[in-house]
Amino acid sequence: MCFGVNHLGPFLLTNLLLDRLKHCAPSRIVNVTSNIHKYQKLDFTDLNYNIVPLFTYCRSKLANVYFTQELARQVERHGISACAVHPGYVVDEWKSQFSILFRIVMYVFTSMFFISCQAAAQTVIYCAVSDDILQHNGGYFSDCKPCTLQPHAQDSGIAKKLWEASETMVGLTSSPREHLATRTR
Ligand SMILES: NC(=O)c1ccc[n+]([C@@H]2O[C@H](COP(=O)([O-])OP(=O)(O)OC[C@H]3O[C@@H](n4cnc5c(N)ncnc54)[C@H](OP(=O)(O)O)[C@@H]3O)[C@@H](O)[C@H]2O)c1
Repeated sequence: MCFGVNHLGPFLLTNLLLDRLKHCAPSRIVNVTSNIHKYQKLDFTDLNYNIVPLFTYCRSKLANVYFTQELARQVERHGISACAVHPGYVVDEWKSQFSILFRIVMYVFTSMFFISCQAAAQTVIYCAVSDDILQHNGGYFSDCKPCTLQPHAQDSGIAKKLWEASETMVGLTSSPREHLATRTR
């Protein structure tokens, strides 16, 4: 579910909107990833990896980074740009199903280490409106500036391979691929 919601959903939605985005060019796509993408690598024999939840999340966010790179490469000539954003760590509310004591403890903890929703929105907004991102098409942004990715997160071969696997998983292509097996997991 994590890989599906965090990567395959946005991948399919973006592809279904591409004709419209081309028609409206210049247009932009801002994908929200997380900087913890750097702690994992993708395993193409098990893209739906679901053993350690945090690692599953990291992989889905790494998929956002690869997706953005390959997307930018494919659509740049159509006047569409794409970027990936780390918004910062934010918790907007501790839901009422938690006890009042837990919520107070978490409020104190998050006040020290997390940022507000308004602050977390800034890099997303920056990437949506600033012309600075045009020279970093496919790039990764944090704190309203472009950031360097780890070497494994800028592998264009993996980005292309993930694109092809994702096309198969969401049914955008009917050609059999080596990744088809992951659909049945
Ligand atoms: N919060 C952070 O500290 C943080 C840090 C780095 C990156 N990010 C990234 O920022 C983005 C937003 O994060 P957030 O904290 O705002 O997350 P969130 O409050 O948990 O919102 C997640 C969104 O995903 C939807 N969703 C969850 N499970 C789903 C499912 N099974 N099927 C369909 N939709 C589902 C939710 O829909 P409903 O509203 O309908 O429930 C909601 O709109 C995410 O991409 C996250 O990875 C967040």
